This record gives sequence, structure tokens and C-alpha cells, in this order.
Amino acid sequence: MQAARGTRCDAEQVLIVAGAQQGFELVCRLLLDPGDRAWMEEPGYPGARSALRAAGARIAPVPVDAEGLDVATGARRARDARLVYVTPSHQYPLGVPMSLARRLALLHWARVARAWVIEDDYDSEFRYGARPIPCLHGLDVDHRVIYVGSFSKTLFPALRLGFVIVPPDLQAGLVAARAAADQHPPTLDQAVLADFILEGHFARHLRRMRLVYAERLQALREAAERCCRDTLRLRPVRTGLHALADLDGVHAVRVVREAAARGVETAAAAAYCAARAPAVNALVLGFGAVRPEAARRAMERLASAIEAARRR
Ligand SMILES: Cc1ncc(COP(=O)(O)O)c(C=O)c1O
Repeated sequence: MQAARGTRCDAEQVLIVAGAQQGFELVCRLLLDPGDRAWMEEPGYPGARSALRAAGARIAPVPVDAEGLDVATGARRARDARLVYVTPSHQYPLGVPMSLARRLALLHWARVARAWVIEDDYDSEFRYGARPIPCLHGLDVDHRVIYVGSFSKTLFPALRLGFVIVPPDLQAGLVAARAAADQHPPTLDQAVLADFILEGHFARHLRRMRLVYAERLQALREAAERCCRDTLRLRPVRTGLHALADLDGVHAVRVVREAAARGVETAAAAAYCAARAPAVNALVLGFGAVRPEAARRAMERLASAIEAARRR
């Protein structure tokens, strides 16, 4: 983790969990009392929102702009928050990396407010040309950042293995919460994964998949340009396995419905928002599992879905 992501930790700080979701759940349960305030990115990952809700948090949605989480707005809306959930490497789902200035502002605010920060680094490994961005955890000298990683995207979600890098003050509490939840994830799976990593297969897999996904992203871009030039605008994709496509003059939720009727699965960015009237009208297009030929066919169907949604 130090070499790959610039964290500052030792092995004793790493707690293995049954996927990032269990990490969120344990951290929220440990740190929040019902009624405590927490910042949540808006739009943001619904799994994190549900962990905050389950712990009884009062959620303050904090907008995301071109530099990532808007720390100043968060501080204005909920200065007494106890916990912040953030995806600095690749904001989920908008895809922007958090600027260095914002990272420092967030850490400064957390220090003064004595708040904790969950850094969800889910979407950091598959980069396309962009230089790796060191994680927030590596900048944190106050030990307020709780880093959560997962093998769901790098390997597969059914594995249910993730990890939390736990600040020293939380170690005893989180280990106890972990033991109370399920003792530990299956050790056989962990042993197989450990060998997979130690024998170099994991690094090779990442290198190989980076090329495969870059090719799929390129196919998606070309197909969008060919079939939907006037209706869809793909935002730059620096990392991760989905693209965000802005729509003009047609409602994303309608397009999602029409696309589903044509066998194409997409999501509206609005589905990641807590607000009733979300500010973003865009589609989330996953390309990780879509081969180049399939991307071309899907984009033709999506073009017809946009047309149909427009006519309605
Ligand atoms: C941003 C983000 N964080 C975390 C997760 C959850 O990971 P896990 O499968 O390890 O619970 C996901 C899954 O889609 C995700 O999109």
C-alpha cells in the first residue's frame, strides 16, 4: 500500500474486512451516535450513504465541483460533523480527482473539527495515462483518515474482500467491532489472495487489465462519437471503469428506462443524489465488462433510446 498508493501505515494497522461495505458499516457504527452529523458527497456512492444512515447519522450532502468535495460548503452546512465520506482519487460517480488544495483543506478542517474522514479508494487502480495520485491517507499527519480499499473492482465483487487502514486511536475499537460482527472473512480466500499477490499475479493482472479496459474505454468513446455526437458528451475518464455522459435536452432517467427496454443497462447520475432535484443530468456508462464490439452495438441502441426519450 505504501508503494502503490502512498499510504503511511504498517501491517498491524490493516484490518481485513468482507468488502469495503463492511468497512464503512463498522467504521460508521463505531464512530457515530444516532443524530451525529456526517458529510456525504453529493452525488455519492449509495452504499456509503446507507452505512451512514444505518448508524443513525444526520447526513449533510456536500456538493462536488471540478476540484472534488467542496470543503468550504461542507464546513458551512455542517461544521459539527463527526465523519466525512470522500472518494478523492476518482469521485464516485462524477470521476473528478480531488485537488491537492482541497485535500489539504479537508485535512485541516478535520483536524480543527476533530472529525474523522473515510477515504474510499475503490476506484484508483485502473488509470489511463494519468499519473497515480497519492491517497489522502498519505498526507494525513493527524491520523484522522480511515482508508478503505477493496478487491471488488481489481478482481471481482463476489470475492467480498477489502481492507481498512485503521488510525492508531481506533484500532482496539474497530478490532472489537469486527470480532462482534463476524470474527473474520474466510481465511481460505485470504490465503489464496495473499499467494496471488505475493507470487506477482495480482500486479500482472492489473497491468493486463489496464490495457484491456483502456481499449474498452476507447471503443466506448469512438462509438459515442459515431452514434451520439449531438446528444451525449462524455467527460474525460482518468481512471476507473465507468464514464459519465452529459445529456442535453433530454432527461437521463427517461433515457435509462428506454435503454433498459433495448437491453442496455445504464444509470442516471441522479440515482446517486440525495436531493430530489439533482443538479446533474448525465448517464453513468460502465465499460469494464463491455467488449469493444458490444460497446458499438450498445451505443447504437442507446442512440435510439435517447431519440425515443426525446420524443416522449
Ligand atoms: C465507490 C465505491 N466504493 C465502494 C464500493 C463497494 O465495494 P465492496 O464490493 O468492496 O463492498 C463500490 C461498489 O460498487 C463503489 O462503487
